[in-house]
Amino acid sequence: MSRLVYILNGPNLNLLGKRQPEIYGRATLADVEAECRALAGDLGLSLRFHQSNREYELIDWIHEAREDAGGIVINPAAFTHTSVAILDALNAFDGPVIELHISNVHKREPFRHHSFVSARADGVMAGFGTQGYGLALRRVAHLIDARAAHA
Ligand code: DQA
Repeated sequence: MSRLVYILNGPNLNLLGKRQPEIYGRATLADVEAECRALAGDLGLSLRFHQSNREYELIDWIHEAREDAGGIVINPAAFTHTSVAILDALNAFDGPVIELHISNVHKREPFRHHSFVSARADGVMAGFGTQGYGLALRRVAHLIDARAAHA
């Protein structure tokens, strides 16, 4: 199984570190990417790290992942709560998928409590701050290894 992992980030996450720091913290998306790249090296993974404010771009990256990736970590941001299209794209991907939220969405407004993506995700992380990215990456590495062991 491929050891390439896609980390996909949805709308407004380009503003990480500046946008509502009391909720999302002070680390920028570039900080998160650097941490993930260092960890990926330790875990023997390669990474594609992307962010987009456009739903279709996230869908296109999920399609691309079908061709060459072993797993996906996705923070769909607000599309979590609205996008059947992202769920459908993830349903067309075979490897492990982890859904990630920096904040604990269940502690927030009721409209954030429902996720379309959770119906596909192998695991869901919420409320671990930006540390969640590293934790999710470790889990994907484990799931890729487990699949390889059973192949
Ligand atoms: C988020 C939570 C979503 O409800 C919100 O729309 C986001 C970020 C998070 O990482 O906590 O943009 O996915």
